[in-house]
Amino acid sequence: MGNVRHKNDFPVFRHHKDLVYLDSAATSQKPEVVIDAIQRFYTQENANIHRGLYPMAAKASRQYEQVREKVARFINARAEQEIIYTSGTTEGINLVAQSYLEPRLQAGDEVVISAMEHHANLIPWQQITARKQARLKVVPISELGELDLDEFQAALSEKTAMVACTHISNTLGTINPIQEIIKRVRSFRQDIPILVDAAQSAVHYELDVQEIDCDFMVFSGHKIFGPTGIGVLYGKEERLQEMQPIRFGGDMIENVSFESTTFAKAPRKFEAGTTNIAGVIGLGAAIDYIQTLDRETIRQELSQLHNLAVQDLEAIQGLTIIGKAKSKSAIISFVLEQAHPHDIASFLGAENIAIRAGHHCTQPLMDFLHLPGTVRASFSIYNTKEDVRRLVNAVRTVAEFFT
Ligand code: ALA
Repeated sequence: MGNVRHKNDFPVFRHHKDLVYLDSAATSQKPEVVIDAIQRFYTQENANIHRGLYPMAAKASRQYEQVREKVARFINARAEQEIIYTSGTTEGINLVAQSYLEPRLQAGDEVVISAMEHHANLIPWQQITARKQARLKVVPISELGELDLDEFQAALSEKTAMVACTHISNTLGTINPIQEIIKRVRSFRQDIPILVDAAQSAVHYELDVQEIDCDFMVFSGHKIFGPTGIGVLYGKEERLQEMQPIRFGGDMIENVSFESTTFAKAPRKFEAGTTNIAGVIGLGAAIDYIQTLDRETIRQELSQLHNLAVQDLEAIQGLTIIGKAKSKSAIISFVLEQAHPHDIASFLGAENIAIRAGHHCTQPLMDFLHLPGTVRASFSIYNTKEDVRRLVNAVRTVAEFFT
């Protein structure tokens, strides 16, 4: 169980032979092909895009735009013009909040999110609703960490101006029935704009924005085996056309005079200045890498690792798993009665086991669950049964030490 062939694709494990990396929800490790693509770009192909007419510049521009087509196919967008490069999930949501929602939001309008959103899918809406005397409505979750679809539906009203929901909770691992949620929103009112945060799902799940029927989707390169500092905002073409840019500079214009400027069409109007070209190249290589994987088998293997870890962790005295949704990805949050999450993380860190501890950028969710934080182990394709064994043994040792 767990695939050593996949592990061999990731150079970090050659440098840290003893490393048990269980923090992929924070950032994935990078396969050699991604690192090579970035290195090749900087050593052999580096030039700015959309500006130079010499061959290297033309090649860089071509590659940059080819990755856009690749991303469009990756999530089944209708056209590559619906793909905007961002610095990551956070920038994508901020762009939608400021460029799409803010100019349209009226006092008294409502933005609906779930109680399991991470800060990136909460604070941008919170800031804008506060500025506009609008309201942020938070749909609660059950003890198990699941959204109640009836409650979700009940939160909708004639005043709903936006729905934003995560596909997979970074803290609890809950997989939300995003398609069913969107169906309900659409049957309530067809025109409500919907944003799906796919930061945790894009790596292991096939996403089809046309089938899901969201207006916007965001994800980050660094959680799908790509580099940091690059991400994707998908927007339905008609929504993107309605949006005005919020960052101004070179490469996003049609015509400029000292008096006024007209802007290029989407996606260019949202990509001012010199963007993260090498990041885009790395993102393209990451998507190519993902396409070589059998994601269905990987999901099954991850689910087995998850179940094994849950079963063995639950046998430890004083340990409680937080988030027991029926539909879960390979993310496990837990607390130990006898030790603080940070103490557990320090102990595990000393054993070369990388996990995350704390509020996981979901402080309101922690308040909702009346917890100071949790320990979170998140799995990816390079994890093995041996990693589970090391995690469980180390947590058991901490539990016994503090008893
Ligand atoms: N959102 C990232 C996490 O869950 C950083 O750790």
